[in-house]
Amino acid sequence: MTLSFSLVTAAYIGATILFILSLGGLSNPETARRGNWFGVAGMAIAVVATVFGPRVLPFGLPFIIVAMAAGATVGLYAAKKVQMTQMPELVALMHSLVGLAACAVGFASYIDNSITFEGAEKSIHELEIYLGILIGAVTFSGSVIAFGKLSGKIDGKPLLLPGRHWINLGGLLVVIYAGHLFLSHEGVIAVLALLVMTALALAFGVHMVMAIGGADMPVVVSMLNSYSGWAAAATGFMLSNDLLIVTGALVGSSGAILSYIMCRAMNRGFMSVIAGGFGTGGGAAPAAGGEGPQGEVVAISAQETAELLKEARNVVIIPGYGMAVAQAQHTVYDITQKLRAKGVNVRFAIHPVAGRMPGHMNVLLAEAKVPYDIVLEMDEINDDFPTTDVAMVIGANDIVNPGAQDDPNSPIAGMPVLEAWKAKISIVMKRSMASGYAGVDNPLFYKENNRMLFGDAKKMLDEVLKDIE
Ligand code: TAP
Repeated sequence: MTLSFSLVTAAYIGATILFILSLGGLSNPETARRGNWFGVAGMAIAVVATVFGPRVLPFGLPFIIVAMAAGATVGLYAAKKVQMTQMPELVALMHSLVGLAACAVGFASYIDNSITFEGAEKSIHELEIYLGILIGAVTFSGSVIAFGKLSGKIDGKPLLLPGRHWINLGGLLVVIYAGHLFLSHEGVIAVLALLVMTALALAFGVHMVMAIGGADMPVVVSMLNSYSGWAAAATGFMLSNDLLIVTGALVGSSGAILSYIMCRAMNRGFMSVIAGGFGTGGGAAPAAGGEGPQGEVVAISAQETAELLKEARNVVIIPGYGMAVAQAQHTVYDITQKLRAKGVNVRFAIHPVAGRMPGHMNVLLAEAKVPYDIVLEMDEINDDFPTTDVAMVIGANDIVNPGAQDDPNSPIAGMPVLEAWKAKISIVMKRSMASGYAGVDNPLFYKENNRMLFGDAKKMLDEVLKDIE
């Protein structure tokens, strides 16, 4: 069965519309599920129309089917096995595959001599190949490093080579010159130019992400998301596949918008994130030294926590990465329901970079069926802390660090944070005094009105729930 060109074009238009509807749906938790299904339907149509379209010759079909079966098996296995806390790493790994695919398609298009181009068309095709491999290689190696950093396999501290901006600038000039050689020569020189550029692009991807500190990783995740879109669009140009161009552009631009949102959430300029170095302590901050916040911390028991919660009128729950690790979201919601039944006003405060991926906390709370109207964004709830009786911080750390406001030397200085310390009492639930992802001490723990509930969040919340009942 081979579909005609016009049928494939119609299918591609349908898939494009579904992808746009999907992105629209994903922008709101209430419509996200539907958005996901639009995406699934769009992708199914796109795959069927491409595989059975006129550009796949019958002898190629078995190869495609074997490749799809292998890919689907790995995908299914990964989806079943990967824990929710490993999602960010998985996403980074997926981005790396898009980059790798763009490189593979680029080299294949270059080697493929079944279609010959002449004159301007040839130059345009070669430029597409060059740019496709360039973006693909940066995306690939950058995403692999991001995977390493997010999974803790690579140290989160930025690697700051001396003269790193000059190294990057030198690399860029060589890439431009190699591009000139590639477009103006044939044979060995062109191949060498392509290989030199690929090696430099791979090295640049590694260098770029290695230079970015822990505190800036949210921007890196969204930036690589955007790059993977542009890599897919470049592949679309190489293969003259309109749907891939549109889909790549959609992913590329939505990733760019997300990067902008993340930068705003952290009060950081996009260019300064790319320039790297944030999250080091800037050489001046005592992040890892003995000069961290001083004072006593006051521990509290689960039973005392339950008493405070029962007596409160307004409670704000601040979830963070630790809630995801402990998988405590269902218990959190059970506690919320119990307290609401007793007339306590319980709301959730979500920081834009809480957890390890955009929307991480919203996903967990939605999974536990927490109603959306009590889940508020940082800007919506931050002014309410002075009238809050108990701010309960569950496995969060960096996002409630007052040092971001008070200490100009802090590696996270300037990052907007949830002002939990302004509540009458704040309770921080975590296992130890360890720092969070950015590796910064947290003065909140030492505040007079703060209590520490030490232990695994799920275990402690189970006890709190028992004591509330
Ligand atoms: P973090 O600052 O990383 O703090 C999480 C805290 O959870 C840790 O201090 C840890 O302390 C505690 N914890 C871990 N497992 C726990 C468990 N089983 N039970 C109880 N507590 C547990 O998290 P956050 O406040 O959500 O901030 C997010 C950080 O990640 C920011 O620095 C952000 O920039 C970064 N980041 C975010 C993203 C995105 S896109 N959201 C991507 C990459 C990086 P103990 O070890 O003492 O328990």
